[in-house]
Order: sequence, then C-alpha cells, then structure tokens
Amino acid sequence: MSAITRIGVLTGGGDAPGLNAVIRAVVKSAWNSGIATLGIEDSFDGLLEAERTHVLTPRDVTGILRLGGTILGTLNTGNPLTSHVNTSEGAHQYADRVMDIFKRLGLEALIAIGGDGTLAIAHEFCLLGMPIVGVPKTIDNDIVGTTNCFGFDTAVSFATDAIDRLHTTAEAHKRILVVEVMGRYAGWIALHAGVAGGADAILIPEIPFEISQVARRLKERDQWGAKFSIVVVAEGAKPVGGAYTVREAARAGYVERLGGVGIVLAEQLEDMAGREARCVVLGHLQRGGGPTAFDRVLATRFGGAAVELIQRGVFGKMVANNPPDIVPIPLADVVGRIKTVPLDSDLIKTARAIGVSLGD
Ligand code: F6P
Repeated sequence: MSAITRIGVLTGGGDAPGLNAVIRAVVKSAWNSGIATLGIEDSFDGLLEAERTHVLTPRDVTGILRLGGTILGTLNTGNPLTSHVNTSEGAHQYADRVMDIFKRLGLEALIAIGGDGTLAIAHEFCLLGMPIVGVPKTIDNDIVGTTNCFGFDTAVSFATDAIDRLHTTAEAHKRILVVEVMGRYAGWIALHAGVAGGADAILIPEIPFEISQVARRLKERDQWGAKFSIVVVAEGAKPVGGAYTVREAARAGYVERLGGVGIVLAEQLEDMAGREARCVVLGHLQRGGGPTAFDRVLATRFGGAAVELIQRGVFGKMVANNPPDIVPIPLADVVGRIKTVPLDSDLIKTARAIGVSLGD
C-alpha cells in the first residue's frame, strides 16, 4: 500500500442519482485507510479557490447514501481547458494555476466523478501530471467500457413508473400518449423503460424513424381493438434524413439543449393515426430523487474501488462495471466515445419480436 494521505473528490456534469453514494463510499473507505478526503465544490472550478474545498469526515457523509443530487454541487459548462484557449489567461496558464493549487491544497490524488465531459477534462489533467481516477456517471448509460453507470437504473425505474401511470389515462381517454425521455446520443433509457413499461413504439437515436411506420403500427392496434397507444421517444431520436429537435441552441461553453421531439411526434401521430395524442416530457424528473438499491450498490462499489486504485498508485483509469468485477480501464479508451445501443442487441431483437415498433 502507498503512503497517500490526502485525496480530493469532485462531481461534474449533469447530476445523477448515486453521486452522493459514491462520495460517501470514497470518504468512508479513505478514512478507514488513514486517508483524508477533501470535497471540492462545483467540479474543477472549485479547485481554483481554497474556500470551495472542505475536509469531509464520515460524520459529513452520514445519511447521504439515499439522497439525490450531490453535496458537492456540480457544473455542466463544458471543458474549462478548451474555454480558456481564447481568454487573456490562456489554457496553459489556467492549467498551471489549477495544478499549482492542487499541490498547495496538499492533494496527492483526485477522484473525478462524472460523465463523458468530466472524464475528458480528467484525462487532460492526468496528461498534465495530476494523479486522477475517474468514476463514470450518467443516467444516459452511454459511457464506454462499463456495462452500466449508476443513475441509469433509477432513471429507468422512474420512467417505467411514469409509463405505467400514463397507460391508465391513455386507455381511459383512448389516446396516444407520447413519453419523451432523456438520452441525447443513446437510447438506453427509452429502450429499457419502453420495454419495461410495455410501450407500443420505442424511438431511439440509433434508429432514425419513419413517422408513417409508427402511425401504421398504432393503427394496427386500433384494428384489433386497442384504442390507445404508448410511444416512448428519446430526446435525441430523429426522423430518417432529419435532425435532432433542439430546444435551445448551444451557448458558449454548453452543448445545445435537446427536447421537443415528443411534442412534434404527438402532433404528427394525431393526424396520421387519427387518434387524439398528448405528449409528456419527463425531463429532469429522471435525474432527481434518491437512487434505487441497485444504483446505491453500484455507486458504493465504484467509490470503494476508486480509493483502492489510488492506494495501489494506479492513475489515469476509470473504474468500470464488468460483472462480477469492478475493473480499471484507461481514461484514454473512454473519452471522446459514446456507447450506443447495438442494433443487434438482444433487447432490440426482443422488442421487435414482441411487436414493438422501432420506427424503421
Ligand atoms: O447527460 C445526461 C442528460 O440527461 C442528457 O440526456 C440531457 O440532454 C442532458 O443531461 C440535459 O442536461 P442539462 O439540462 O442539465 O443541461
């Protein structure tokens, strides 16, 4: 075991249920190994000001296992190394400043909990000499190298519950209910919640949809007597030859905000399938609230594994779920890539086999 005595932990990007469970596991396992943990507020920004860092003891993390959000705060503002390129300070000086503060804070290693954006920043700082271990987080479940991320199971459970509720009102009013879920580039939430909730059509970014195909399937249901239908659509789904439905164009430092494809679909399906349609956008409800038992366990295992890697002096890695183990994989193999739903996956085949329209 190495002689590391002080580490930092931060959370970055959009929140996901289970962030606090990781923080708790990091603090407790570090404490039990004689390592102090410094909690850093608001992602890498918090590293710039000492007053935004606090030593965390087991007392500080008691009771947070079941809480959503993150006690450290988070930021979704893109890569600060990139955004400093055209500033008076410049990217190199900014990076030097962060590295300098990191050392002055007495930190010997950092655990960065985040999605593709945060892990990319972590990788860059790693290359500059900061000893970092990454922990994958996103409800979208689209980080490569890990079979799942914490937060995904909670989002799917919530969306499934919402679909169950929408089934009863759709049936009562003989309507089409379109449920828009998160998933910018990957349809994991839509596919899993759609199958779990018994949706009639599931539209994901990986399979551009023909609206006429969806309408045809809904009309078939009418013919055999089902007077209502449920369509689940990922926010990143797009029609054949079409584009994403953008809610808000990208502002400096941010990615564009997607959203609204469900509303467009509901209008079109009402006309084409000849049945009243409504759209419900689940939005940030999918990220809010406490984590499921599955996500609490996964998040706790990730936190413990990250501290263990640091003790072994293994850096530049992300902890990944590779059942039955949690394994380290190089950050370099993760960044800049997206884990989309394989079109030949078992769940896609099963969805087709049971008659779900995937829009193609
Ligand atoms: O990255 C997860 C995600 O849930 C995406 O599916 C979604 O587009 C995004 O976060 C929205 O994040 P925010 O509204 O916080 O910018």
